[in-house]
Amino acid sequence: MKVLVAGGAGYIGTHTCVELIQAGYEVIIADNLCNSKMDAVYRTEQIIGQKIPFYLVNISVKSEIEPVFMENKIDGIIHFAGLKAVGESVEQPIEYYQNNLNCTLMLCEMMKKYNVKKMVFSSSATVYGDNEVPFTEDMPLLPATNPYGESKVIGERILQDFIVAHPDYAVSLLRYFNPIGAHESGLIGEDPEGIPSNLMPYISQVASGKLSKLKIFGNDYPTSDGTGVRDYIHVVDLAKGHVKAIEQLEKNAGVYIYNLGTGRGTSVLELVTTFEKVNQVKVPYQIVGRRAGDIAECYAGVEKAKNELCWAAEKNVEDMCRDTWRWQCYSIK
Ligand code: NAD
Ligand code: WQD
Repeated sequence: MKVLVAGGAGYIGTHTCVELIQAGYEVIIADNLCNSKMDAVYRTEQIIGQKIPFYLVNISVKSEIEPVFMENKIDGIIHFAGLKAVGESVEQPIEYYQNNLNCTLMLCEMMKKYNVKKMVFSSSATVYGDNEVPFTEDMPLLPATNPYGESKVIGERILQDFIVAHPDYAVSLLRYFNPIGAHESGLIGEDPEGIPSNLMPYISQVASGKLSKLKIFGNDYPTSDGTGVRDYIHVVDLAKGHVKAIEQLEKNAGVYIYNLGTGRGTSVLELVTTFEKVNQVKVPYQIVGRRAGDIAECYAGVEKAKNELCWAAEKNVEDMCRDTWRWQCYSIK
């Protein structure tokens, strides 16, 4: 089966290419490198020991993406392409809606035209909003608090409508919780531009001395130690979830929705102390006020993915901290 990995040069995309190829899939990447580097693709090729066909294209532009479908007989798409910085999406809502929705719409158009019947879509736990934990797939979604989150809610809706009109097609909506960690090889991982807004890259840059101190956003939440609780999931486990999802779509039509998380919540302070312990480093921090838009707790109900996809996360928070640090030490310049 030949899979087009849209946005495949990015953080989750590169890890997923490794797992797909190791599971026997043929992979093609399409990416405009707006938030990634060609070096990540070369490193992915180094891990698997083979070249990956790569198209430098803007997926939302028909004249750029259509040749990919004309030149290849694509059987399925894994769609990672999108902008993902929550804060930036509040400042640039139009750019976020335009890019994220147009990528999804264009891929649907190509699917219809080139008879590609399978798509796995990167959604996010953000679609649940401030619901009761654990978040389960059958919960009504709450309005997103930022344009990024709303682009995921609308993306899910577009794909559900697409399947109503094309019931012989198949779509999997994967709601990721908080992906962190890096490939065990230390060759690929997350390398955000500028000052990171997410917790794990921030911790890792404080530990390396690149940043001086972590600011912990609030210790007055109704959680065990007052700091925010999230369901951190190792990016390699997440990547393996995509292989299971595409496998399922090979045999089935319709819409499938799954949480990809561990089902376990970890507080900010727990993550900091685990990182310090497993890596023998110091992460100085200071408690500051809450960050606007943050919720107290977020973790996944994982039964549905376990029962229907036969997938469960295997790596723990220690593994996530160790692998992030290896990547930070050996690969980030
Ligand atoms: P990433 O930014 O590393 O990867 C996204 C890739 O898409 C990048 O390589 C970027 O260059 C590419 N891209 C964006 N717009 C494009 C366009 N118009 N044409 C071609 N390529 C384009 O992000 P990631 O962390 O790997 O996330 C992958 C997907 O998963 C995204 O859709 C994101 O919203 C979603 N997601 C991420 C997280 C997370 O915390 N990392 C959580 C939930 C959902
Ligand atoms: C985690 C915890 C912060 C930074 C975001 C998106 C979500 C998804 C994943 C894409 C929270 C605290 C953070 C810092 C801190 N992305 N924190 N100091 O906000 O759960 O999720 O990324 O879909 O949509 O919203 O992740 O890593 O930013 O924060 O104290 O410098 O760490 O308050 O409790 P979040 P995060």
